[in-house]
Amino acid sequence: MLCRSFRVSFGLVIALAVAILCNIYLVFLLWTGGQQSDYHYEFTVPPIISQEAPIKLKDSGLNLNYLKTMLNSSTNNVDKTSSSRSVISMMNKLKRELKSRGAKTVDTLGSSSEWVSPTMLIPSFTPELGDMIKYLQTSPITRASVPRVGTQLKVMITLEGGQKALLKPQWYDRHHRIDGPDVYSGADRHNGEIVGFYLSLLLGMRRTPVAIGRIINLTSDILANADRDLAATFFKNNQSHSCFYGVCRYCKPELSVCGGEGDLIEATVILWLNDVKLKSNRSPWQRTYKKNVRALWETDDDFCIKLQKQNKVFRLEAGKRRLLDLIDASVFDFLISNGDRHHYEIIDGYSEAAVLLLDNGKSFGRPDLDYVDILAPLYQCCVIRKSTFKRLEMLESGPLGTLIEELTLKDSLIGPLLTEEHVQAINRRLGKVMRTIQLCAQVKSWDDVLVPY
Ligand SMILES: *[C@@H]1O[C@H](CO)[C@@H](O)[C@H](O)[C@H]1NC(C)=O
Ligand SMILES: *[C@@H]1O[C@H](CO)[C@@H](O)[C@H](O)[C@H]1NC(C)=O
Ligand SMILES: *[C@@H]1O[C@H](CO)[C@@H](O)[C@H](O)[C@H]1NC(C)=O
Repeated sequence: MLCRSFRVSFGLVIALAVAILCNIYLVFLLWTGGQQSDYHYEFTVPPIISQEAPIKLKDSGLNLNYLKTMLNSSTNNVDKTSSSRSVISMMNKLKRELKSRGAKTVDTLGSSSEWVSPTMLIPSFTPELGDMIKYLQTSPITRASVPRVGTQLKVMITLEGGQKALLKPQWYDRHHRIDGPDVYSGADRHNGEIVGFYLSLLLGMRRTPVAIGRIINLTSDILANADRDLAATFFKNNQSHSCFYGVCRYCKPELSVCGGEGDLIEATVILWLNDVKLKSNRSPWQRTYKKNVRALWETDDDFCIKLQKQNKVFRLEAGKRRLLDLIDASVFDFLISNGDRHHYEIIDGYSEAAVLLLDNGKSFGRPDLDYVDILAPLYQCCVIRKSTFKRLEMLESGPLGTLIEELTLKDSLIGPLLTEEHVQAINRRLGKVMRTIQLCAQVKSWDDVLVPY
């Protein structure tokens, strides 16, 4: 009898303990759920593997396989002459900005110190732009040091007058093809960085710092002005040309850059943003950078809808710009074929700061390939700023590749920046962007696709 009631109460104690443990676990789950960072996406709905799913259209956006088929089979029939007059006036305005007026260095630097705002790195009309380009192209280098940013070979240079700039050396000639295996393979393409700058002006996305090309003498421009840690990475190769490999995460003697005849190299010089504090955020459309692991956005056609539900930063509302900025960025990246925007920067300290288009060197690797998944933010969300769409429509009649050539040839000290194949690729890709937007409008409606803010 005693034994039995003991067993019953023992059972009750166990049951109670189990219940308490369950509760603790539940509270733990809720608590850790609440601790998830803004940039962590764990959806409760199991992801759809798009490769195995049949071709389908959704109210929300387009499936990649469907889009690829449509882009393969169709040509775009936009009226290519309708906006030529607006193209001419836009180009004239840009050329006025890009023309050097011969201002004094101190005035150029003085005015550029006022350029940056939370939404733009270069104001929408900047008459001093031409003088800044000239300054970056011609000012003597007075110091060369190791920049504490990024993982690839770069040099922080100081120019006469005190302005800092990032220098990225040439790795490849214009015809070199980056043969994969991935969209982000290879070292930086210094010319891509410059084209990115001019493209950002054409697109009206003034969120790229000024980038120009110039010929550098590795010995007299860099080594002679180098800090000790940078100078220590210089050596002569067997043809007695100067080489260096710099100080960075992936820097090593086997990956060195060497001068040619007279120790000259081509390099890109990118205006350094003085006193601007940047915040780096993980892109929701980040790749996994692992062979057999796919990211959520690659497996879930509803990714964009869920992203907006999950995090209010990405919501589509008047006054909220983050999602529309990332869609702008995806168009920009698709045109230059940059599949490496794993993080994006904004100016720190503002809730509605713009997504900046920094670091555009992993571009123009293959003129014959279009990595359509770079456009995922566009075709998964199926929205775009109306102003961006209007601008793209106008640029298509340029055609865009020709406009880029026209601006860069005029300003470039290092000759044509792109081969004809790459110029044609830009035009082809813009056609695909326009076609994607049309397909979105078929699934939704033009009013739902084109966002007025
Ligand atoms: C698109 O066309 C190319 C060449 O014509 C072909 O190799 C590729 O498989 C096609 N892709 C799709 C999704 O149909
Ligand atoms: C110089 O070095 C390169 C590789 O570092 C090698 O391919 C080349 O044959 C060498 N040339 C001479 C003349 O030794
Ligand atoms: C580069 O600088 C070195 C050292 O001053 C000099 O010997 C060389 O001639 C320069 N190259 C050119 C092309 O001027």
